[in-house]
Amino acid sequence: MFSQSLKHASSTPSLNTSTRQVDLSQRSFRSVSDFRKAKRDGRKISMLSVYDAVFARLAVDAGVNTLLVGDSVAMALYGFESTIHATVEMIASHVGAVRRACPGAFIVADLPFGSYRRGLKTAMKAVEAMARAGASAVKLEGVVGNEKIVSHVIESGIPVMGHIGLTPQSVLALGGYKVQGGTEEGAARLIEDAKELEDLGAFSLVLECVSRSLGSRISSSLSIPVIGIGAGAEVDGQVLVASDLLGLSPGRSPRFVRRYLDGAALVSKAFEEFCRQVGEAQYPSESESYD
Ligand code: KIV
Repeated sequence: MFSQSLKHASSTPSLNTSTRQVDLSQRSFRSVSDFRKAKRDGRKISMLSVYDAVFARLAVDAGVNTLLVGDSVAMALYGFESTIHATVEMIASHVGAVRRACPGAFIVADLPFGSYRRGLKTAMKAVEAMARAGASAVKLEGVVGNEKIVSHVIESGIPVMGHIGLTPQSVLALGGYKVQGGTEEGAARLIEDAKELEDLGAFSLVLECVSRSLGSRISSSLSIPVIGIGAGAEVDGQVLVASDLLGLSPGRSPRFVRRYLDGAALVSKAFEEFCRQVGEAQYPSESESYD
């Protein structure tokens, strides 16, 4: 889902069946207090960006703590070049699918580009659409200029997750998909932004594409959990886009994506086999036909 400019270093470890034995206490979160408790207890939080009923159910059954319906849907499912093309209607429709599949799950919905910088009224319309579709919380990118919106959404009863570091909706201003906070000044700004989000009442934040040491500094300076994506291991949890970790995303992956499956190869093989068997009249068999 990310730029080709980030270094490619993905691997495809074989699936280990022991990963199925998930500690039950770490399963699907129900409320924001589960996030706080996980950080307090030193338990790492797992979050996956999913967009449909099939993957949402599989993720929850596998023990993933929380689901994100990210604006990455615009790239992963709709073939756009960036997340800027995601709309409220697009995301809300996927939130609905995920909610129907996972009635008890904690689902975070991304507020897309343009939906929260046009005044409180427009922002609240987007938040309402997500909440009505089934979101448990909303996520928005950046801090400066969003302070009133964050406070207002929280005061209206919808929990807010922040997103700082590399914020893909601002990729044009950031000059590409690059590691953020590389200078002392940039790092200090990100630490300040993180603290501001905590002070405003965000229950958690996503920290994208920063050095391991900055990830660790930000996590240890906050009491809310920091969920990293390309922010090293010393944060409070990790998020990936499901289609990235399943090896279904085309092109090169950024360094932080671990491919747990070569999904594209497996799917292609199945499709080729179907095609061949249809061509050779091997499908359907007698047992696959009605008498
Ligand atoms: O849109 C998304 O899926 C995200 C995650 C990658 C954090 O924002």
